[in-house]
Amino acid sequence: MSASDAVPALDERDHWGSRLGLILAMAGNAVGLGNFLRFPNEAVRAGEGFMTAYFVCLVLLGLPLMWMEWSLGRRGGRLGYSTAPGMLQSLTSLRAVRYLGAIGIVMPLLIVIYYVYIESWTLGYAYQAATGELGASIGATQAHLAEYTGASGGFAGHAEWMGSTTAYTFLGITLLVNLFVLSRGVMKGIEIVAKVGMPLLVLIAVALTARVMTLPDQDGREVADGLALFWTPNIERLFSSGAEVIWLAAAGQIFFSLSVGSGAIGTFASYLTDDDDVALTGLTTVSANEFCEVILGGTLAIPAAYLFFGSEQVAEIAQSSMALAFVTMPDIFASMPMLGGEAGPASVQVFGTMWFGLLFVAGITSSLALSQPAMAFFQDLLGISRGVATLIVGAIITLCVQPIVLVPGVLEEVDYWAGTFGLVVFSLVEVVLLMWVFGARRAWGELHRGAEIRIPRMFFWIMTWVTPAILFVMLGFWGWNQALPILSMERSPGGGDYSLAARHGAWIARGMMMGLLAFVVVLIAVASKRGRFDAVMALHDEEDGA
Ligand code: PHE
Repeated sequence: MSASDAVPALDERDHWGSRLGLILAMAGNAVGLGNFLRFPNEAVRAGEGFMTAYFVCLVLLGLPLMWMEWSLGRRGGRLGYSTAPGMLQSLTSLRAVRYLGAIGIVMPLLIVIYYVYIESWTLGYAYQAATGELGASIGATQAHLAEYTGASGGFAGHAEWMGSTTAYTFLGITLLVNLFVLSRGVMKGIEIVAKVGMPLLVLIAVALTARVMTLPDQDGREVADGLALFWTPNIERLFSSGAEVIWLAAAGQIFFSLSVGSGAIGTFASYLTDDDDVALTGLTTVSANEFCEVILGGTLAIPAAYLFFGSEQVAEIAQSSMALAFVTMPDIFASMPMLGGEAGPASVQVFGTMWFGLLFVAGITSSLALSQPAMAFFQDLLGISRGVATLIVGAIITLCVQPIVLVPGVLEEVDYWAGTFGLVVFSLVEVVLLMWVFGARRAWGELHRGAEIRIPRMFFWIMTWVTPAILFVMLGFWGWNQALPILSMERSPGGGDYSLAARHGAWIARGMMMGLLAFVVVLIAVASKRGRFDAVMALHDEEDGA
């Protein structure tokens, strides 16, 4: 096979239908459960000073990485590659680099494996809220707080949900919906869902936020004061001993929420055409995500929980990652009067459907983005048809989600390695290859190709030195203080000890992660044999010759 056969022409490749569709799809990629579920918890857990650290991380890590991944992705697409192995290989002739690209496929795949499960809870809860069944859990927050031990391995507070028929039913539906959309491709599937979903999401979130912010005082507490729990600037605290916890929480949130460092942004960007702007559109994606996270996500759950439960209990609730959204919110809705109406079962029905519906929409646009690198990998590098790729990806997720559903501790372990630590590792790989190996000047030029704005020069220095430096420090620090103790099971990702069950779970999770990584590495070797990297290697040869 000749090199030119190996690279499909652009019109055969997937691509976005419109500029608006692209922006909404990218926003849908970034805006997800991270914004509405993870952000409030992280912010409250970290406490005063968090938002300052958060914005610093946004400017020094999030935004630069977003721009870099857009540039890298569009460049990859131009050369016929939609996933990290080809993209990274396009930066250097070093052959080993394509295997590093495996991370950019396996990591989003690992995240989506537990992400769809949580997404399926939101669907199940939306359904139960709509039918009025959810009313039964009213008053659950107190019971939950009394029972919760901090080391739960599943759906905290709702043990009966784990592995139940209901859980499996909604998981099945969620998976099928995701696979159906994926099978329709980028333009006719993902883009359409984003075009409908994103406006809907903003509409629901704005309506809920407006309701929460206009709630009357409770026991002398004002709703807006709930914002002070994490908005209070406390610069001193950010430089005191133990402050690294706040900084790591802020950085981790920026990574996860913006989807950077996973490979998912790059794959979406590969469906751009060559001269599509990435500078302004990348910035737009970041802004859309921050609006949904800070303004909508931050103003909803925490102030509401503060109003009804007070700051001490909110701090306790935030210790368990799922309690706020799934236990406390329905509880709150029961006491939240509708405009011109009463609070009670009907308000749980209305607000509950809106809240869980919102989470589901936020979730699905992200789970599609998380699955697409694997989809693209099978299609682009292995020449498998989209339908068969959908079946393979569906089979992998269905298989690997089983331990997540059935064994406590698996979800937490995968979330830590893929959803937290791995994002830093892969970001570092990308930045070093793009800015140092490929070259900062060329990367800057790539970023400004077709650009509709000029990015302030300051970012050239940030991208070249500051972002990689921070990533190195984080990796060193994080590796030493977190990853090593977790790897040796001295400490669990949640901060406590590993229970016996969680140890089992962790080993299963590790086996699964290594297995998937090995699988993809082997497939990259197969693609190499079939000459899928010949075109880009020829490019390097040409450059060396010139
Ligand atoms: N950003 C998504 C969220 O906030 C999750 C995600 C992470 C999506 C990585 C794609 C890649 O929920």
